[in-house]
Amino acid sequence: MKKSKTAGKKIVSKKIKKARPTEVVPPNKGIAPAGDVGLAEAGKRTRTVPLLRGMKDILPREGAVWLRMHETAARIAQAYGFSYMETPVLEEAALFIRSIGRGTDVVEKEMYVFEDRDSTKVGLRPEFTAGVARSYIGHGLHTMPQPVRAWLYGPLFRHDRPQAGRFREFHQFNCEILGERDPILDAEMITVAYNFLRDLGLATRVDVNSIGTREDRERYIVELVSYLRTKRSYLCEDCKRRMVKNPLRVLDCKEPACAVVIETAPQIIDWLSDASKNYFMKVLEYLDELSIPYLLRPTLVRGLDYYTDTVFEIYPEIETTAPAAEELPASSPDEASGAAAIGAQSALGGGGRYDLLVEQIGGRPTPACGFAIGLERVATLLKRDTSPKEKEGAQTRKIYLAQLGEQARRRALCIVEDLRRSGIFITHDLSKSSLKTQLELANKNGSSHTLIIGQKEVQDGTIIVRDMESGIQEIIDQRKVLSEVEKILKTV
Ligand code: HAM
Repeated sequence: MKKSKTAGKKIVSKKIKKARPTEVVPPNKGIAPAGDVGLAEAGKRTRTVPLLRGMKDILPREGAVWLRMHETAARIAQAYGFSYMETPVLEEAALFIRSIGRGTDVVEKEMYVFEDRDSTKVGLRPEFTAGVARSYIGHGLHTMPQPVRAWLYGPLFRHDRPQAGRFREFHQFNCEILGERDPILDAEMITVAYNFLRDLGLATRVDVNSIGTREDRERYIVELVSYLRTKRSYLCEDCKRRMVKNPLRVLDCKEPACAVVIETAPQIIDWLSDASKNYFMKVLEYLDELSIPYLLRPTLVRGLDYYTDTVFEIYPEIETTAPAAEELPASSPDEASGAAAIGAQSALGGGGRYDLLVEQIGGRPTPACGFAIGLERVATLLKRDTSPKEKEGAQTRKIYLAQLGEQARRRALCIVEDLRRSGIFITHDLSKSSLKTQLELANKNGSSHTLIIGQKEVQDGTIIVRDMESGIQEIIDQRKVLSEVEKILKTV
């Protein structure tokens, strides 16, 4: 008996190996490797494939928040004259390396780069801007009326250390204006980003700075490096390296010891040419005009190399609780509920002007500016912010349709369909056969009214409308369902 069981195991595992020759099993502590635990071994459960570290599922319970962010983005982008566009998730790695800069953390440590089957070195996009610039050049978008305004929305990838508000796959709402240089456009970009968050109900603060032209920066960097040399021993190991490779990045460092050094460092604003200074002053004047609350932050330089002149970042006006360095397990339930906030120093978004990028990757000189908002961080705040009253309001609008018997179920299908065509969505569980269960579900759902249809109602051409709070029921003509539902929706 024992013998035959063991023999059976071997046959099963062989078969599986043959049937799934290319299955990649990620390393996972505590779970036996595939083939060890029989995938289909009799009496044992199939092992689960874990989520990759730093990746996150957007679960049905989070769906409403994600839809709300998408709708708000689409509405606001349209209001400011942006057209929707998409670029591929996968591009030649060289595009990102040349755009974002070799000395940046994104290129040096975080990009997903690999060889494609034809040996091309490809990269998963870590941001949208480089792809948009490539597309602008490749499709001759400079021949269109300028500026070109485009908005994008979707996933990006950075192999960062997972922590609060930081994932390896994340999403952005991104806007770009290419083909014109005017401080009013910089101010408009900041306004769009700010208004997107405000429309979602979030109070934010905008940090702004100017990093001037390339020449301004070259002069400033000489000064900065000679200052940093005097403080070298206080800097973290990363900053000691940055000091040589990309000194501006030192200003980005969040290490407490480096922050002290940065505080007394020379400020880039003092090294700006008159033209850059005047340009920046104009941006600030427009922001004043638009009543956008901003804070001048002289150490703000951004983590990507392509910026010139205006740079900005947006922060939530809340007390965040989780330290930035705190590691979270992949898809931590704590994070999903928003309890761990978004990381103490995390920006919700950022952007600025990048007048040299298009030329840098082979196009003609093209001034441009843009921003991106990180949606995981926004979603976390929105989940925290949903007040019970708001939830209540959303639920009382729900109407439930319950059915009893096969004929009633068919009729219910048609009613759902008719209402949907009129733009009304009702809740239902057509797979359920018990009326009691359905009424319980209607209650759980917070439905204000339930439409009930049974065998008798099918024959009579009627439907019962039950007020879930008072329990009062009314019988109406099935042909009047639409007007009755509309009437209810107006009153709740
Ligand atoms: P960024 O500052 O690298 O800018 O990213 C913008 C936002 O994306 C961040 O403020 C943050 O909210 C979110 N984000 C970045 N990395 C992660 C991550 N690992 N996990 C979760 N969220 C993250 C850009 O990407 C520029 N391309 C923006 C831009 C557009 N500049 C001009 N045009």
